[in-house]
Amino acid sequence: MAEQKIIAVVGATGAQGGGLVRSILAEQDGPFAVRAITRKPDSDKGQALAELGAEVVAGDADDPASLDAAFAGAHGAFCVTAFWEHLSPEREYEQATAMARATKRAGVEHVVWSTLEDTRLAIPLDDPRMPVLKGKYNVPHFDAKGEADEVFASEGGPTSYLMAAFYWENFIYFGAGPRPGEGGNLVLALPLGGVKLPGIAAADIGKCAHGIFRRGAAAVGERFGIAGEVLSGDEMAAAFEKALGREVRFYDVPFDVYRAFDFPGADDMGNMFQYQALYGDAFLDSRDVKTARALNPELLDFETWLAQNAERIPID
Ligand SMILES: NC(=O)c1ccc[n+]([C@@H]2O[C@H](COP(=O)([O-])OP(=O)(O)OC[C@H]3O[C@@H](n4cnc5c(N)ncnc54)[C@H](OP(=O)(O)O)[C@@H]3O)[C@@H](O)[C@H]2O)c1
Repeated sequence: MAEQKIIAVVGATGAQGGGLVRSILAEQDGPFAVRAITRKPDSDKGQALAELGAEVVAGDADDPASLDAAFAGAHGAFCVTAFWEHLSPEREYEQATAMARATKRAGVEHVVWSTLEDTRLAIPLDDPRMPVLKGKYNVPHFDAKGEADEVFASEGGPTSYLMAAFYWENFIYFGAGPRPGEGGNLVLALPLGGVKLPGIAAADIGKCAHGIFRRGAAAVGERFGIAGEVLSGDEMAAAFEKALGREVRFYDVPFDVYRAFDFPGADDMGNMFQYQALYGDAFLDSRDVKTARALNPELLDFETWLAQNAERIPID
C-alpha cells in the first residue's frame, strides 16, 4: 500500500473535525492518515481519539507558533473556528488568519477551510431591515469567517471552502427542538420568515470534508455548500411528529422576538435566520444536497437522522 498522507484536523474533538477524523479512520486502507489537533491532548476527548487510532497532537489557534508543529509534514489541513466558545468575530478572524498562515509555512498541499458567507456582501450594513451587531456585522459568526476567506486565498496553502448548513444536532444541544405548547402538543419554534431551512447531520460535514480531500488539487479554489435536506418549518414539524409520535406544530417566530431571546448570541442567530430569509433562493442555492451527496454518498436526510436521534432530543 502507498504511504498514507496525513490530514491534520483542527477541531478534532468537536462536531465537524470529529466527523472528519472518524471518516478517515473508518477507511483503514484509504489514502489518508489522520492527525487530531486539540488544545488538550490529555483530555478524555483527546484520549478517545487516540484509542480510535488517531495521532493526537497539541495545537491552539490562539497560539500561532503551536500550529507549526501541528501542521508539520501534513499533506492536508482541516481548519475550523469555534465562534460560540467566545462570541468574538475579531478573535475568530485572528484564529483563521493564524491557521491560514501556518498552513502556508508548513507547506500543506490542500486546506479545507470551514467557512460561512460574509453576509455584508449581499446585504449592506445600512439595510434597515436588520440591526448592525458589534459595530460592523450583520451576522458576526458568518461575516468574520467569510472575511477570512481572502486570508486563506492570499496567505494560506491551496484552499477549498466548505460551507455547512444548520446542524440538526442543534435540536439536541442548542434547545432548538420542539417544546411543549399549550394543550399538550409540541411546538417547533424557529424564525424562518416563511422560507425553507437547509440542514445537515453534523457528522456528515466531516464526511464531506473527507470527500473534498479525496478530490485533491481539482477542488482547490472551489466552494462546497452542503446540506442533507432542505425543509420548511411545517415539513420539519411533520417529520418530528412521525419520529416522536406526538403532535408537533411549527411556529415561525418573528425575527425581532427571536433576537430578544435570553441566550448569548440570540441577536446573531436572529440576524442569521433573517439573512437566510432575505437572501431567499440564492441562500438555498448556496447549500446543496447534490453537492453533499457527491462528496459523501452516506449523507443522511432528516427522517433518517431523526430515526437515529429522536430519543436524544430533550422535549419536556
Ligand atoms: N451549529 C451549527 O448549526 C453550525 C452550522 C454551520 C457552521 N457552524 C460553525 O461551526 C463552528 C464550530 O465547529 P464545531 O461545531 O465542529 O465545534 P464544536 O463541536 O463546538 O467543537 C469546537 C472545537 O474547536 C476546538 N477549538 C476551540 N478553540 C480552539 C483553539 N483556540 N485552537 C484549536 N482548536 C480549538 C475544540 O478543540 P479542543 O477543545 O479539544 O481544543 C473543539 O474540537 C462554529 O464556528 C460555528 O459557527 C455551526
